[in-house]
Amino acid sequence: MSVAERLPDLSPDCLQSFSRVRDDSVALAAHVSAEDQMLQSMPDASPMKWHLAHTTWFFEVFLLEAFDPRYQPFNERYRYLFNSYYQTIGAQFPRPSRGVLSRPGVSEILEYRRHVDRHVQALLGAAGGEQRRKLERLVTIGLNHEQQHQELMLTDILHGFAQNPLAPAYTAWRPAPSSAVAQQMRYLEVDEDLVMLGHDDDGFSFDNEYPRHKALLQRHGLADRLVTNREWLSFMEAGGYETPTLWLSDGWACRQAENWQAPLYWQQEDGAGWTSMGLAGRHPVELDAPVVHISYYEADAFARWAGRRLPTEMEWEAAARTVPVAGNLRSTGLLRPQPATGSGLRQMFGDVWEWTQSAYAPYPGYKADDGAIGEYNGKFMINQMVLRGGSCVTPDDHIRASYRNFFQPHQRWQFSGLRLAADAADLDSLSWQSFPREQSVSAEHAGFAADVLKGLSSSPQKTLSSKYLYDPEGSRLFEDICDLPEYYVPGAERAVMAQALPYLAALDLERAVLVEFGSGASVKTRQLLDQLPWIASYVPIDISDAHLSAAAASIAEAYPALEVRPLAKDFTQPLTLPDEMAGQPAFGFFPGSTIGNFTPEEATGFLANARRLLAGGRLLIGVDLRKDQHVLEAAYDDSQGVTAAFNLNLLTRINRELAGTIPVGKFRHRAIWNAGKSRIEMHLESREAQSFTVAGQRFTLLAGETIHTENSHKFSVEQFTALCEKAGWQVEQHWVNPMPEFAVFLLADG
Ligand code: AVI
Repeated sequence: MSVAERLPDLSPDCLQSFSRVRDDSVALAAHVSAEDQMLQSMPDASPMKWHLAHTTWFFEVFLLEAFDPRYQPFNERYRYLFNSYYQTIGAQFPRPSRGVLSRPGVSEILEYRRHVDRHVQALLGAAGGEQRRKLERLVTIGLNHEQQHQELMLTDILHGFAQNPLAPAYTAWRPAPSSAVAQQMRYLEVDEDLVMLGHDDDGFSFDNEYPRHKALLQRHGLADRLVTNREWLSFMEAGGYETPTLWLSDGWACRQAENWQAPLYWQQEDGAGWTSMGLAGRHPVELDAPVVHISYYEADAFARWAGRRLPTEMEWEAAARTVPVAGNLRSTGLLRPQPATGSGLRQMFGDVWEWTQSAYAPYPGYKADDGAIGEYNGKFMINQMVLRGGSCVTPDDHIRASYRNFFQPHQRWQFSGLRLAADAADLDSLSWQSFPREQSVSAEHAGFAADVLKGLSSSPQKTLSSKYLYDPEGSRLFEDICDLPEYYVPGAERAVMAQALPYLAALDLERAVLVEFGSGASVKTRQLLDQLPWIASYVPIDISDAHLSAAAASIAEAYPALEVRPLAKDFTQPLTLPDEMAGQPAFGFFPGSTIGNFTPEEATGFLANARRLLAGGRLLIGVDLRKDQHVLEAAYDDSQGVTAAFNLNLLTRINRELAGTIPVGKFRHRAIWNAGKSRIEMHLESREAQSFTVAGQRFTLLAGETIHTENSHKFSVEQFTALCEKAGWQVEQHWVNPMPEFAVFLLADG
């Protein structure tokens, strides 16, 4: 079977996936300047703009040249320039010199992307039947290829930035491996077993995950969490980097040649603590976070020092298949001992790539595909080691239990770390837990489960993210809140908007695009659409697809001349506007003081992202102001108990979606004014000492202990102005409703 034949049938929204993944790459690059995009700090790393071009080349060569006889290449010479390693296609521009290519510039490469995207979309659109299926399958490979490069875009720019004494941040928003509160490492016992490994035909996979085959596992133990920075420091302090007997011969030679004394990117300024470089810049090493940016050689030396070994890829995969919340999982970072019902394995997916002791070799019966596409994996099956699990910069939908990543044993610039394993002979000296195979949470709720388990484990304050308040029942209750006499926000905002509208109407922007963040039912939008004649297009952005389509349809019906282009995305992430709107002035709208629900860092991050998205445009934003404490407390703890129901509904949701046993009646809603942080906080307070389980994990609360569920920050005009300026905006105008105090700010790109 060829790669293409093994691919599953594709969903009808192939074109949508195509746009999404292609847009994601452009959005990743948009965080850095054209100069940054040329950076190549070592032969292994490629410039950001090269990744943008090469992923495009892939579609041009494998799809357009192969299937569209009338296709005219964007530039004939790109065939050579952006070929990475495909000998079947022809010669390649030397990899170590990619950083000398000042031309084509970023804008030309973006033009190249648009050219190829248009032709791919047209080709797909025109094809039918078997031909379309064939094309869609190739597109899927191309998109998975592109997602691999998205990870490289981040690891490569990080390596480049780490060479710069200014330690630039790629963005304050990028994830890092999550921090597990370190508890004693436990080993899960796995008995001798004959297991099936390899991809099970459910969803996409690369050819190196085939054929599915049997493997015999010896009795062994697998650590329930990753090795932390704290443990790595112990290895360093014990002389791990100076003890040749801990190292493989090649590893020691490498350590000597490169004078390794700590993981890549670690630095210690005279007498101060260790710092490391991440996508958010240089920061102190977080002791309980997983160690990252280590080579296979270092991982292996550490394991030997610890009296353990690295797991084989078979041991890792067999264990990963029993983890209930596989998929979009970030580490749960649990504090509590694992109950007997969960597998107890943590941090398996999406924190760091875990080195295994398995050489990257073909599975029994593996055959590379014919032709150029067969060069994808097979020819690299020498001198490399397998890594498993996916890292914090791997796109979530690119992570799976059977995924085999591979790198050379000396390479350190990927987000690579380690988990320990123990041989059967060592098992009896370790603390034990058997290896159950139960699942209690469906993959659909994996992200929610991970966040809830982490939040309920955090100490001393348990937390739950306010974004989970809005299930269908929560959204309905929030609409009821907006009608309450005590909840002054909608009324105050309407009043102050009425003050602002004459000024806004006089702006007379020509054919502007209105971009609404978190548009929901697009109710407040109508006030703008009715009064601002210069709005020609509307882009509502909301994470809830269902909500969005209904709202967009109703706006389109009510305003037939308006071009409506809904974007079903998380607006807190970097986004781009549809291509055809380039050139129209952008006018952002973020009402309701939702910005108050963010942390100050999230708020600045949002404002900075919005500024990039609106590129030279304006942003109109509703902001709740500090006011009398009693007014605030009443607004967030109303006399009819609607806000209480809204808050408590989160526990009901956890019980329903995460197999929880929380006695909801044993909690009460609390709204607390935190003057120091200038925010009203919502908590769920335990009426008595109690214990319950969520997804098989047990939690206990003391009487009076609370779970913190929401912050709603209240600003002064000066504070909010400073926040905007930090994100690069200028306040063009602001209007204030005197009582209850609420403001609307009009920001212009400074
Ligand atoms: C959505 N957000 C702006 C509301 C607020 O006022 O912080 C959420 C809310 N929570 C309780 N009442 C309203």
